[in-house]
Amino acid sequence: MSDDVKYGLAGVMTDDTAVSKVMPETNSLTYRGYAVQDLATQCRFEETAYLIWNKELPNQSQLDEFNAKEKSLRGLSDDLISVMRKFPKDAHPMATLRTAVSFLGLEDRDIEDHATEDLYERAMLMYAKIPQIVATDFRLRNGKEPIAPDSSLGFSENFFHMCFGEVPAEETVKCFDISMTLYAEHSFNASTFTSRVIASSLSGIYSAVTGAIGSLKGPLHGGANEAVMYMLQEVGTAENARAWMLDALATKKKIMGFGHRVYRSGDSRVPTMTDAYKKMVDIIDTDEARKYWEMSRILDETMVSEKGIYPNLDFPAGPAYYLMGFEIPMFTPIFVMSRITGWTAHIMEQLGDNKLIRPLSNYTGEDQRDVPPMSAR
Ligand code: COA
Repeated sequence: MSDDVKYGLAGVMTDDTAVSKVMPETNSLTYRGYAVQDLATQCRFEETAYLIWNKELPNQSQLDEFNAKEKSLRGLSDDLISVMRKFPKDAHPMATLRTAVSFLGLEDRDIEDHATEDLYERAMLMYAKIPQIVATDFRLRNGKEPIAPDSSLGFSENFFHMCFGEVPAEETVKCFDISMTLYAEHSFNASTFTSRVIASSLSGIYSAVTGAIGSLKGPLHGGANEAVMYMLQEVGTAENARAWMLDALATKKKIMGFGHRVYRSGDSRVPTMTDAYKKMVDIIDTDEARKYWEMSRILDETMVSEKGIYPNLDFPAGPAYYLMGFEIPMFTPIFVMSRITGWTAHIMEQLGDNKLIRPLSNYTGEDQRDVPPMSAR
């Protein structure tokens, strides 16, 4: 270990950004200056997406135009759907999504010059098509035919429609829409930084997003929302929750959905998402839903009192998605449907004033030496 090295880039500021601001000292987060919890509760996700790309909230006619554009870009090619039919049914949906987004890049070979309007067009295209990729993959792996998008429906409603063939009650859609806004952007997290690194070599927006999906897939990053739900299933009962947590801490297990590299005393997105999770528990109104809620509450209290480590957004988002009826391996792909906005805003920002990202390394290997002849090895 060297004092000159910032392991994991912890605490290192690598560039300017005007997209979002994370303020660990107040546990808060703003997108283009607006508090994320205000956007989540007072706006629809479409307005947040517009804001992230266009720097200002839309008025009604700007929003109508934006939504019409998104709807016009929905729909997957027959080629992509036939490729998706061949995907192994037991592949993780993040791996199939990564491949499908890369395929979108194969179908769109015209983008070479990295002009901002071209990048914006591609960002909109992925924002419009990724939900259908996620829903189509879900249906195909369950032996069902894909459902085409419905242009009379908004972003979140249309996703439910493409997954289940129906749109749930408005309150459930709102809980989902809140999660979309909360997941949209978070400064230089691992996947966003990955997208900026790839963009900085002028490799193209599809490569940058494909790489970002790969980064988000990991359980230390986006994959944590799935891991939280598996953890709740393992804990099993509310009565078992405290003992499970104490044992996990005693055996030095990493508890999924807790901790954050930047926030050390709470994550501003958690109270809003926890309210949405509680709303889902009340809507579903079953013993199973109440059991997960009670378990979550006890795990949270135990972790905070024993270790002073707070839950992150994945902790309430995972079980909320479960109660909405989504299969656990879909949770991180759902995160992608939202984070595509933040990633592409950062890719555009990076390319607007590009400098190749190329840090240094502290070499710890052998001193320089001569290649010995084969007979001497
Ligand atoms: N469970 C148990 N202990 C945890 C923990 C967790 N989720 N998160 C942090 N800690 C502990 C570490 O073990 C370490 O303890 P030590 O000093 O006794 O070794 C200390 O807190 C510092 O953690 P560290 O791993 O160095 O922090 P980090 O900034 O590198 O890690 C995360 C941040 C997010 C990777 C980490 O908190 C984690 O793995 N969380 C679980 C996965 C998750 O929810 N990811 C989603 C993030 S939004």
